[in-house]
Amino acid sequence: MANLLAISDLQSGDIGEIFDVADSMAEINRRRIPKVPTLRGQTVATLFFEDSTRTKLSFDTAARRLGADVMGFSVSSSAVKKGESVRDTIETIEAMGIHAVVVRHRCSGVPLQISRWSDAAVINAGDGWHAHPTQALLDSFTIRNRFGSLDGLNIGIVGDIVHSRVARSNIEAFTKLGARVTLVAPPTLLPARMDWPVEVSHSLDDVLKALDVCYLLRVQNERISEALFPSLREYTALFGLTSRRADQLGPDAIIMHPGPMNRGVEIAGEVAERPNSLVTDQVANGVSIRMAVLFLLLGSPRESLIGSDGEHGDSVSAAPVSAGEGGGSK
Ligand code: CP
Repeated sequence: MANLLAISDLQSGDIGEIFDVADSMAEINRRRIPKVPTLRGQTVATLFFEDSTRTKLSFDTAARRLGADVMGFSVSSSAVKKGESVRDTIETIEAMGIHAVVVRHRCSGVPLQISRWSDAAVINAGDGWHAHPTQALLDSFTIRNRFGSLDGLNIGIVGDIVHSRVARSNIEAFTKLGARVTLVAPPTLLPARMDWPVEVSHSLDDVLKALDVCYLLRVQNERISEALFPSLREYTALFGLTSRRADQLGPDAIIMHPGPMNRGVEIAGEVAERPNSLVTDQVANGVSIRMAVLFLLLGSPRESLIGSDGEHGDSVSAAPVSAGEGGGSK
């Protein structure tokens, strides 16, 4: 059984296949009763050692819509509070019978480590600064749905790049799919060393007019231990998407944000509500993408996607997502 640990494990063809399956899942999600029995009998454990609203709820929703059972896990009310290790936690839930584990942890590499301990499929729901692959998939899917393709698009990723696993995964996904990526940030919020095929700018005003996608990142105060910019007010003045700046975007340009948003810091509240802000589309697409990932990893046959109303059996390949770093070395 394979895992989904990072975008770097996927080829652009794998991403295209996930999008094809997500298209079928989106069709299921538009039904009056958005539920199919595809993963009936399978159990998906969601282990969030770090807070989440969107990712946790959409994995829970995705698993349930495919008929799987969900084993929820809240660190705050678990034996982790008594000092139980990640390994013992995994062995405990695995003894109850699970087929996939969705894990978020503040330390980079924990999902990979779990994939070496567990026979279940492991899905990285965000590890430290390292990776958030399903966020990148849902963001790329959202852009593809709007523009038809990412090939040749100008995408600006704006803000706290250095602390952002979303930025790292999105840079990999967007460039793999042919987009030109510009990172826009003060030098203190960029990694010291960057091996990505990207442009860098320290001025949002300079790049704004050329962008097809303005992708804003949250300033991750919980990961910042020193003063990296003088004040939030100064950050907003230079890098915030204010109403004045949003007016400079081209007529077809879109605004994206992974959430949670700091309204009034990296994005003006009014800008987040504009018709070209796709923040809620990202959330909705997250359910379809996570359904696709669960479906592909758990390897259900195509036929079982034909739901109770029968006529919606769109073509869905059952080929697995590429093996992650830990694949095959449980
Ligand atoms: N985008 C994202 O990962 O949001 P959550 O922290 O709410 O899951």
